[in-house]
Amino acid sequence: MKDENKIINFNVPPYVGKEIEYIKQAIENRQICGDGEFTKKCNQWLENRFNAKKVLLTSSCTSALDMAMMLCDIKPGDEVILPSYTFSSTATSAVLSGAKLVFVDIRPDTMNIDETKIEDAITDKTKAIIAVHYAGVACEMDTIMDIAKRYNLKVVEDAAQGVMSSYKGRALGTIGDFGCYSFHETKNYSMGEGGAIIINNPNYIEKAEILREKGTNRAKFFRGQVDKYTWVDFGDSYLPSDLNAAYLYAQLEQADLINESRLKNWNDYYNNLVELQNEGKITLPYIPKDCIHNAHMFYLKCKNLEERTKFISYMKENGIGAVFHYVPLHSAPAGIKFGRFNGEDVYTTSESEKIVRLPMYYGLEDAEVQKVCEKVKKYYR
Ligand SMILES: Cc1ncc(COP(=O)(O)O)c(C=O)c1O
Repeated sequence: MKDENKIINFNVPPYVGKEIEYIKQAIENRQICGDGEFTKKCNQWLENRFNAKKVLLTSSCTSALDMAMMLCDIKPGDEVILPSYTFSSTATSAVLSGAKLVFVDIRPDTMNIDETKIEDAITDKTKAIIAVHYAGVACEMDTIMDIAKRYNLKVVEDAAQGVMSSYKGRALGTIGDFGCYSFHETKNYSMGEGGAIIINNPNYIEKAEILREKGTNRAKFFRGQVDKYTWVDFGDSYLPSDLNAAYLYAQLEQADLINESRLKNWNDYYNNLVELQNEGKITLPYIPKDCIHNAHMFYLKCKNLEERTKFISYMKENGIGAVFHYVPLHSAPAGIKFGRFNGEDVYTTSESEKIVRLPMYYGLEDAEVQKVCEKVKKYYR
């Protein structure tokens, strides 16, 4: 196929080269279940790199969020505050614990929860705030942590998209009580399906280990702290296979390479398209000064839904995968059933209808970014 006609996918799962070797090693280790050598290596790597107290790999970010809600001791009748502009996993974790969802509007600049509207949503039933770091760009965490402290609320960071991002020098996921990462194939670092929970308050480490290991104290047994392991509390099974962890470890070893490569693509997109923003035709992402982001996604905003629909079709006709996402949860059937929107929906619906994500993955070539930008410019001119 001629280069001009080559399809540019929206996402390609990351692959750096050593994945198969490490998976083979996991097989040769005769331990392909959870908490094998590669799981331990990943946990350690994440703890060291992000200065995190405790990291435990999980089978997904969704299961990490489920664990976080249980660790926050969310009970039926409690309320959890979150943005409506997010993936269903953020909300369903709270619903599983029996909570009522209270959706708060987003900021149009970062698409993150509007920290100035959180306090108004707090009632005597509120137990936790879930801060979703959209596109790997941090929420305004100082304000959120201050509110949580004043009202005695727990903070869970949904940092599914935020691995390798930071806020005021602190890694996303390590600021609230609990942080949750995703290593799904659409994320910067992947294990197919997988995630991690970060436990920032040491008082919750033992409970988290028990919850993750079917309610047993097996982690203590492996550390030699008890002579046999037993069922001690309620729990579930959130361990990923060591085969998946082996795939992930190959990428964590190359995390800087992946990060720099993505940032280069991101900056190229930005520099190429900023003239369209200056002409008032599109809006580009905004990165607040306290945030270092990980180039998880590159998006632009069209004027409205109609323009976006036409734009996505045009890109498809030109062999370019451009996608939108997040129909606001408060307008979805489950959102109506399990939650309420607090205050006015000024930006959630209107801004969500404008977003288009452009191809972004490790290995995306410079020429491909150029081609995407050319097509965007052609469309707008
Ligand atoms: C904000 C957010 N939270 C949670 C998730 C769920 O991640 P996982 O697929 O690892 O369960 C995603 C996945 O895209 C996400 O974008």
